[in-house]
Amino acid sequence: MSVPLTFDGRVVLVTGAGGGLGREYALAFGQRGAAVIVNDLGGDIKGGGRSSAAADRVVEEIRANGGKAVANYDSVEDGEKLIQTALDAFGRIDIVVNNAGILRDRSFARTSDVDWDLIHRVHLRGSFLVTRAAWNHMKNQKFGRIIMTSSAAGIYGNFGQANYSAAKLGLLGLSNTLAIEGQKYNIHCNTVAPTAGSRLTETVMPPDLLESLKAEYVAPLVLWLSHESCRENGGLFEVGAGWIGKLRWERTQGRTVRQKNKIMTPEAVRDSWNEICDFTDATKPASIQESLQTLVEVLSKLDSGRGIGTNPTGASATNPSEAVGHTLPEISFSYTHMHCILYALGVGMSTGDPDHLRFLYEGQEDFCCLPTFSVIAAQSAITGLSSVPGLQIDFSKLLHGEQYLELFKPLPTSGTLTSRAVVADVLDKGSGMIVLLDVHTYSGGELVCYNQFSLFIVGAGGFGGKRTSQKAVVTAPLPDRPADAVIVEQTSRDQAALYRLSGDWNPLHIDPSFAALGGFESPILHGLCSFGFAARHVLKRYGGNDVSRFKSIKVRFVKPVFPGQALQTQMWKEENRIHIQCSVKETGDVVLAGAYIDLHASVEASVSAGTPQTDVLQSDLVFAEIERRVKGQGQELVKKVNAVLAWEIMKDGERARHWMLDLKTGQGALTRGVTGGQADVTFTVADQDFMDVVTGKLNPQKAFFSGKLKVKGNIMLSQKLEAVLKDYAKL
Ligand code: NAI
Repeated sequence: MSVPLTFDGRVVLVTGAGGGLGREYALAFGQRGAAVIVNDLGGDIKGGGRSSAAADRVVEEIRANGGKAVANYDSVEDGEKLIQTALDAFGRIDIVVNNAGILRDRSFARTSDVDWDLIHRVHLRGSFLVTRAAWNHMKNQKFGRIIMTSSAAGIYGNFGQANYSAAKLGLLGLSNTLAIEGQKYNIHCNTVAPTAGSRLTETVMPPDLLESLKAEYVAPLVLWLSHESCRENGGLFEVGAGWIGKLRWERTQGRTVRQKNKIMTPEAVRDSWNEICDFTDATKPASIQESLQTLVEVLSKLDSGRGIGTNPTGASATNPSEAVGHTLPEISFSYTHMHCILYALGVGMSTGDPDHLRFLYEGQEDFCCLPTFSVIAAQSAITGLSSVPGLQIDFSKLLHGEQYLELFKPLPTSGTLTSRAVVADVLDKGSGMIVLLDVHTYSGGELVCYNQFSLFIVGAGGFGGKRTSQKAVVTAPLPDRPADAVIVEQTSRDQAALYRLSGDWNPLHIDPSFAALGGFESPILHGLCSFGFAARHVLKRYGGNDVSRFKSIKVRFVKPVFPGQALQTQMWKEENRIHIQCSVKETGDVVLAGAYIDLHASVEASVSAGTPQTDVLQSDLVFAEIERRVKGQGQELVKKVNAVLAWEIMKDGERARHWMLDLKTGQGALTRGVTGGQADVTFTVADQDFMDVVTGKLNPQKAFFSGKLKVKGNIMLSQKLEAVLKDYAKL
């Protein structure tokens, strides 16, 4: 049996609830546990007179049924007062049903200023004022449901109701925008266009029809749209006689009636009229972005000289074989050391790590550019896909599926790079189409790097193309063993805001309302930003941060990361190939899969997995991270821990490191190589065991009882570490 919809604890304002539809809504809400503010001015249908009787009667009815209700007799033009009544009586406002209404029907020619203004003041301005008064309360409590009441007269027009039609469709426009602005605060706004017998309709409908159009056949829709479990937002519904239908916009494929550098004429419009109005293969744009996308496509096609008659919408490969091998216009990318530094910051580099200075300070002798910066030089080639014959790409449906990058020589730290892109292949994956775009990038005449963008266009598959391609650089499965190394790094709250400055301006990564449209609760990090994090983790762990060792990287983008989350890069070394898997530490969600980085052979001599050089310990990375944290949150940690902690890290039976973490004095400090007895507690553990505990492979209690972890001093302090070092909590 389905769960009944209740409104316990919710506070609802129904305007114009003294009779008709509003009364029915108020009674239904009252019956299902809501506290109801029954608003009604108690006037006549033309907006004249007032009386408290109508609202009082409904309040009494609700109370007689055991419900909670108070009356309000103000006009909706006093929006604040209505909301204040809710706050005074019940302390909050959750749901607003804008229902109050009057009629002043006149044929258009006879419509007076008063007829026009009064209708607009009650319907449109009244709904605006009441909703605005509730808005911030809803925003703060991150919950709100708003109903606007439109009318078939607004949607379709109706003789003698010019004033009313205009105001009623105005409410839909208002609702459309509130739905967008409210989404991220869990404020939903929907519009109903009811048909019901009431005093507004009794003069225009025969009595037996009125009888079958009961208000109680409308109220259930309003209640459902107002419920916290209803995800509907920005919808428009016709409702009456127990029937409910949803409406949306439909648009013809249309036709571009202009040609590049030519005057657009009314004759061209006339001659294309049948096609402009032909609803065959009509589309259903649901957002302003989708709507504008068409214009962007039209413009790019006009620029490429393909004007009149092109189909501006759709997402299908009309003739993919025509697209394969097509070369895109060459692009050039000029940059200075500033761009390299900005990119390095964008992918999380910090002066907190002394070894990062070579990427962040142009005055450093070994200043260099991160290898993955090459995608920045190549990525704008993607926009050229809009003018490829045989392909019609809806860019709002484009997802970055995979990325391969191969570097042939370290990138210069400034200069101009030119990129040549070619459509390597087009694949049909059923649910979508994959376009493989090969981009070769040159500095002067010399090839610097090769990128392969694997772009997935949702919904554009099913054109009967091949599913795989020899030209695709493929991902690789992970070795079947625990990772050899792991680096966990917190992205910053502003990571995406910083990364986008390197040239990816998609508002999805910065604008909350745009992200909400894409179904995300907040802006997401760029996939290529996580890609940059993972690549430099490998370069640090296995390449000594030497960019000349970087050969290539391949990743598949799986899930989004939200700025502020921690990225965890697990690494498996197999000869010169480092397999990687990158996930969100907080959720465990894998974000980069099937990924690997190939390093040039010289790397092998310096570091090998599992058996680090004697002068490099795996645990050093963890302490580098601890040091970073102490720098960032030292004072806070000192307050929490108030102790000095020490570690003896053993390697081959000998003491290889001594770390002292002073969280007792000043700002806190981590020092290496200090001996002495000042520590409140000292942990002695082998490098490998330390890493096993950190990565969760070894239970710290077991390590202690088996003698792998020795603790000298105040053993209770190890518990404080849990609270402070979070990701390394097990230590
Ligand atoms: P109704 O006349 O029974 O109810 C409207 C209520 O609003 C009345 O009780 C009235 O006193 C109140 N009101 C008027 N001006 C007010 C103001 N300034 N402040 C506070 N309250 C005020 O009419 P009905 O049919 O229940 O209409 C409800 C809503 O549904 C209206 O917005 C109407 O335009 C709309 N509608 C109704 C249709 C129908 O078939 N009944 C068709 C399409 C839309």
